[in-house]
Amino acid sequence: MMIEIPKILLETLRDAKAVAVLTGAGISAESGIPTFRDAQTGLWARYSPEDLATPQAFHRNPRMVWEWYQWRRQLVLEATPNAGHLALAAMADRFESFRLITQNVDGLHQRAGSKDVLELHGNLFRNLCFREGIELGPSLDSPEIPPRCPHCGGPIRPGVIWFGENVSESLYEESLEACRRADVLLVIGTSGLVHPAAGLPAKAKQAGAFVVEINPEPTPLNTLVDLSLRDKSGSVLAWILENLS
Ligand code: OAD
Repeated sequence: MMIEIPKILLETLRDAKAVAVLTGAGISAESGIPTFRDAQTGLWARYSPEDLATPQAFHRNPRMVWEWYQWRRQLVLEATPNAGHLALAAMADRFESFRLITQNVDGLHQRAGSKDVLELHGNLFRNLCFREGIELGPSLDSPEIPPRCPHCGGPIRPGVIWFGENVSESLYEESLEACRRADVLLVIGTSGLVHPAAGLPAKAKQAGAFVVEINPEPTPLNTLVDLSLRDKSGSVLAWILENLS
């Protein structure tokens, strides 16, 4: 059973020229990828992401952090995009302008067919030199753990944004612009706690967008949004896509 979706949503979407979407870990939950604030599973249950996803953690114990990311990469490789990712990819063609902004690093939006995804927090499968920040490409030819940069010999890190690091200014500006231009913003599966992404719904609202949240749980965005759909994003988005035309 799915919640009943108010008619105003379809009416507003049918009139919309520009749509923006902000996703968080919740959209990938139905693909079996644990959200950030869910307990870590298995081997890694006794660590919190805040202890592993920082430059300091990598500096202290690069091997442990690298192995955690390898585990996460494997988890994502074994997962497939779900109905929510697929519906968003299919929705893009229905609007004059459609921008998808994600805080996720799993690449599942792209695997579902979404184009030009604004990956605010980077991507799990990118590799960077920890010393110099140079992008090194997806396949690495180094037996060490973590692998070594072919240019400077420094350790290689995953290309994600860690706690204490800044999101790319240009990606943030582009995301902000998409939110400001949007007639409708869909905020999907994010706890709305991590800035600057968490501030984007308010920017869209201030600029006049109709803001819709899709999340089975209440979040701090509750008071700001025009419509809250308290259900899983996979079924809600599939329903919207089917009923839009
Ligand atoms: P969180 O783990 O904080 O929140 C996930 C949200 O998804 C929660 O509000 C859940 O209620 C919701 N949720 C769970 N299952 C869902 C489903 N089936 N459909 C829809 N929603 C569902 O994840 P984020 O908000 O993405 O940053 O976290 C933001 C950032 O915090 C992450 O990108 C990460 C972390 O620190 C960095 O790594 C920089």
